[in-house]
Amino acid sequence: MTDVIKLITDDHRAMEKLFDRVKKERDRRPELLREVAAMLTAHSRAEEERVYPIVAKEAEERGKVHHGVEEHQEAEELLHELEKLDPAGDEFDGRFREFVEAVKHHVEEEESEILPSLRDAVGKQRLEQLGQAFTDRREQELAGHKAGAKGRTRDELYQEAREMDISGRSGMKKDELAEAVEREKDL
Ligand SMILES: [Fe+2]
Repeated sequence: MTDVIKLITDDHRAMEKLFDRVKKERDRRPELLREVAAMLTAHSRAEEERVYPIVAKEAEERGKVHHGVEEHQEAEELLHELEKLDPAGDEFDGRFREFVEAVKHHVEEEESEILPSLRDAVGKQRLEQLGQAFTDRREQELAGHKAGAKGRTRDELYQEAREMDISGRSGMKKDELAEAVEREKDL
């Protein structure tokens, strides 16, 4: 298994790429934002539950961990505000930039303070075990997010398929729409 620090930093880089796509691909903003939300919450929950407790206990960095959790909450709140806005509207760009800055600030602190403390406190084998725990929790959260599609109405799924420009959507049954939407998200 891969070292948890590499997994977390790779995830950060993937998130930054996704932010660039939100900026550039204006037409796909609604679905890209949903992807940001899924990634951000899965990453944050996995960190808070599987990694931060170890940093608090074994690296004795309770203050940094507490601050990290607060920053996760702040990022999620900014994202919820963003989800209420029209992606084509005037307000969106400025608010999106604010969200990206908040996440970048947190990522910098995590990579320069929290993760190095963890690396100093535990051995290589433990970092790999934590990598597994982080991945499992992250996957579990992402699966829950996907399962959410099943609880939605055909109309909601149809709207999403329309935003994604999925062809043949008008003739699809609810299950087919859910599947097509999930497939598109995985691409
Ligand atoms: Fe974090």
